[in-house]
Amino acid sequence: MTDSKGKVTEFRAPDFTEDPNKFVIHRMTCMDCHNRPAHQFQPPGDAIDVAMSLGRIDPTIPLIRSNLMALFSTTNATVTAGLQRIASSLKASYPKEPKVETVIAEAQQIYTNNFFPEMKADWRNYPNNIGHMRWPGCFRCHDGQHKTADGNQAIGASGCNDCHIILSQGTGPQAHQLFPQGKTFFHPDPSSEGTDPDCFFCHSANP
Ligand code: HEC
Ligand code: HEC
Ligand code: HEC
Ligand code: HEC
Repeated sequence: MTDSKGKVTEFRAPDFTEDPNKFVIHRMTCMDCHNRPAHQFQPPGDAIDVAMSLGRIDPTIPLIRSNLMALFSTTNATVTAGLQRIASSLKASYPKEPKVETVIAEAQQIYTNNFFPEMKADWRNYPNNIGHMRWPGCFRCHDGQHKTADGNQAIGASGCNDCHIILSQGTGPQAHQLFPQGKTFFHPDPSSEGTDPDCFFCHSANP
């Protein structure tokens, strides 16, 4: 990093033992974070969550989220095959559900917008470097591991509340408690609490 006064600070990850002079140094540009400025291939979980929170998919239909996740995780040869699979599979899973046609239409829309099997293009092979939930993104550097040679200085902003202010977390009364200074994050799935903060390690397409 070169600061505004020209002072250079070099941060390295411990697993990098090569000589940097052997490589072409890449200067960070807009595209290192904004690598998906146009076509966004939404991860299925995110697309389903938006549809459910807007009421386009009724969240009270039993197991609807996991059934849709399973469908979107299947690879199809063509868009048409994917759309047909969505319709036939949901009809088979919910023979008596009156809203099944609405769910099929919404799921097909999500598929059409985000999956392009003929082009082999979807969220699994086109990462998005904004954030750090499903791909390394900011945590490529803000991982607490990149330090100066003397080990005294790490890249700043490696804690959750350096970039976010986590105002509240939880459900019901728990979520009504506000922490204007930012609260310590707890993981929603207790069995994953305290594990690797590299969210993408578990929340990615290819864990
Ligand atoms: C270190 C990563 C990073 C770099 C480098 C970066 N950005 Fe961003 N940018 C972000 C993040 C994070 C956001 C907020 C994204 C969001 O809200 O989804 C953002 C948002 C934006 C927005 C949207 C602002 C808005 O009001 O919605 C624009 C435009 C933008 N950046 C342009 C640029 C340009 C131009 C450059 C290069 C000069 C650049 N960015 C470099 C991370 C970066
Ligand atoms: C290629 C490495 C790299 C990536 C990727 C990266 N950063 Fe940084 N970032 C740095 C470095 C180096 C600094 C300066 C470190 C310092 O001064 O301690 C920095 C500084 C910052 C700071 C200021 C820290 C401070 O303490 O002043 C913020 C905030 C920040 N980055 C946010 C982000 C966000 C958000 C993303 C992802 C969208 C991101 N960065 C991605 C390398 C990176
Ligand atoms: C270097 C800055 C930085 C740090 C450190 C950081 N985050 Fe983030 N986080 C971001 C950015 C940028 C986004 C994307 C925001 C957006 O898409 O508008 C994000 C997104 C998220 C999301 C939303 C993910 C999604 O896609 O729904 C969660 C949850 C989150 N962060 C939690 C955390 C937690 C917990 C920590 C600490 C372990 C943490 N963050 C540390 C910058 C950071
Ligand atoms: C060791 C694996 C693991 C790690 C690391 C991990 N998670 Fe999770 N996470 C899970 C599991 C398992 C669930 C439960 C999934 C479910 O209920 O479908 C979950 C659920 C969640 C949920 C609620 C459901 C959702 O998908 O929105 C959020 C939010 C979340 N994690 C955020 C994070 C953030 C932020 C980080 C990084 C700070 C992180 N997780 C790191 C395994 C992990």
